[in-house]
Amino acid sequence: MRMRTLYCGQVDKEQIGKVISLCGWVHNRRDHGGVIFIDLRDREGLVQIVFDPKYEQIFTQAEKLRKEFVIQVTGKVRPRPEGLQNPKLPSGFIEVEITALTLLNHAKPLPFPVDEYHHISEEHRLTYRYLDLRKPENNQRLRLRSAVCREIRQFMEETGFIEIETPVLTRSTPEGARDYLVPSRTHAGEFFALPQSPQQFKQLLMMSGFDRYYQICKCFRDEDLRADRQPEFTQLDVEMSFVEEADVMQLMEKMVTHLFKEILQVEFTQPFPVMTYHEAMTKYGTDRPDLRIPLELTEISDIVKDCDFKVFSGPANYKRGRVVALKLENGCERLSRKELDDYAEFVQKYGAKGLAYIKVNDLSQGMAGLQSPIIKFLSAEIVNNILTRVQAKTGDIVFFGAGHEHEVNQSMGALRNRLGMDLNLLTQKWCPLWVVEFPMFIYDDLDQRFLAVHHPFTQPLCESIDELKNDTHNINSRAYDLVLNGIELGGGSIRNHNIDLQLAVFELLNTPKDKAYEEFGHLLEALEMGCPPHGGIAFGLDRILMLMTGADSIRDVIAFPKTQTATCPLMRAPSKVDAKQLTDLHIQLVNLEQEG
Ligand code: AMO
Ligand code: AMP
Repeated sequence: MRMRTLYCGQVDKEQIGKVISLCGWVHNRRDHGGVIFIDLRDREGLVQIVFDPKYEQIFTQAEKLRKEFVIQVTGKVRPRPEGLQNPKLPSGFIEVEITALTLLNHAKPLPFPVDEYHHISEEHRLTYRYLDLRKPENNQRLRLRSAVCREIRQFMEETGFIEIETPVLTRSTPEGARDYLVPSRTHAGEFFALPQSPQQFKQLLMMSGFDRYYQICKCFRDEDLRADRQPEFTQLDVEMSFVEEADVMQLMEKMVTHLFKEILQVEFTQPFPVMTYHEAMTKYGTDRPDLRIPLELTEISDIVKDCDFKVFSGPANYKRGRVVALKLENGCERLSRKELDDYAEFVQKYGAKGLAYIKVNDLSQGMAGLQSPIIKFLSAEIVNNILTRVQAKTGDIVFFGAGHEHEVNQSMGALRNRLGMDLNLLTQKWCPLWVVEFPMFIYDDLDQRFLAVHHPFTQPLCESIDELKNDTHNINSRAYDLVLNGIELGGGSIRNHNIDLQLAVFELLNTPKDKAYEEFGHLLEALEMGCPPHGGIAFGLDRILMLMTGADSIRDVIAFPKTQTATCPLMRAPSKVDAKQLTDLHIQLVNLEQEG
């Protein structure tokens, strides 16, 4: 007989009466009235195996089994007695009476239990990630990841895409983060950069005529980490020739719809809604609005610009100021005084100076029916205009944010999300959305220069280079992002295929022609050797999986993730290296202690 005839999790009623062999880990052990019950675990699940004292020798061996020992058993499948069945498990109606047992390996007591749930620090979990991955839900997440990649590949192949690998040791390509550098041994003083994305390679592949490229690839970015950011993450990277925005967007939403249908049996309605960046920022304060939350920001700058309350009239008159209202229906009964104070503290973390509000206790009583720390500063007419604009009713609370547009968007956008989650306001389970017409550039006040909002290879949405140069602040780009439930899943653009336009963009980004050729000569030259119009997109695979599994962080859907401080406690990376290795690489360390 083979070592194993089927997986533990596959044993069901069909096998009753059959003799089977199983291999796996002792998940837990219960001794009941002289009989030993073990839940045996493998990647497919659990099965209950039973050791009866009538098989004396095996029983004695079974008494020595401890959690996480690795065993092989043979036995006969039988129905569980009435009342002892577990309908939650596929194997819950049967058990296996064991007639042979081999101990394949011992296990020391583990640093944390695999079958129990209590809080364990992430550092500790990641140090022993191989044990953490024994937990069934972690196992499920990684298998779902494998299934998602399989579906993606199948979809992409069926729609004519060719998978091509691009280098990991390469040259810096700008995506807005710091590079991870790799010193060259053979070229003293020179460095490779790990790719922040395969952006330039995929464009070059269009110039080679591949027409439709895709790759599931690792990208590396040394940036501040958050729940949805890792220094090393995976993209589904896509590029297409002879296309416009609609071609890329239509095909990619078909791909995403296909994925959710195949993996989660969720049907998305196509086409996905499309919103301009401007509308997203105005109504939601963010370029990745979570449309499951039925709350909107309402501009009231025009109403308050002449009032005496400087907190409002000031920002209403600044060039880049904003005053907005956010109405929460029935907020009076939903929120306590303490909660209001907590929200006021919350928005301050996002740069707000305060959180003014009006409680509409009774609309019919005019000013007397309102409760608010600010109405004493406002005229009845202004208050009335505000309440009319937001269509406030008795029982509602209206919040206000006033200040620089960046702070107001950040803080009121965050408040909108927080209220949506805290008060469980979500109207739907899934809300995909395309955001389009991003600004091409953002002005960095500190450095006094323009930066690319997407990346410098994105085509500006303009008629001429003159227009681009004369109206730089207001030029949008041919970029698009796919947002799902408030998370940016993917982003891409139609690229510059015209050399003059590309050089003009670089120039506006403080990269004059000679410097542009020095850094990106390969791409610029290729633009002049028969470059097709092209565009593409990249999705964060980890983020897709985080959403599909309901995980709190992309770390949960990555087999061996880095911590929040970009380390791997399991491999203890990064680490110091031998002096000899450094010498070979022509590297001399500065005295870190003195520097520090
Ligand atoms: P972008 O920088 O928008 O575009 O990245 C594409 C998608 O990758 C995911 N992502 C990340 N996921 C986890 N951790 C990170 N640190 C991280 N950074 C980005 C996001 C994001 O939407 N070359 C362009 C694409 C193109 O123009 O075709 C690019 O990389 O889900
Ligand atoms: P103050 O005059 O600073 O005591 O503020 C009066 C009220 O306005 C308080 O409820 C503050 O929380 C609120 N407030 C202050 N600054 C702002 C702001 N920039 N945006 C919204 N509300 C504010």
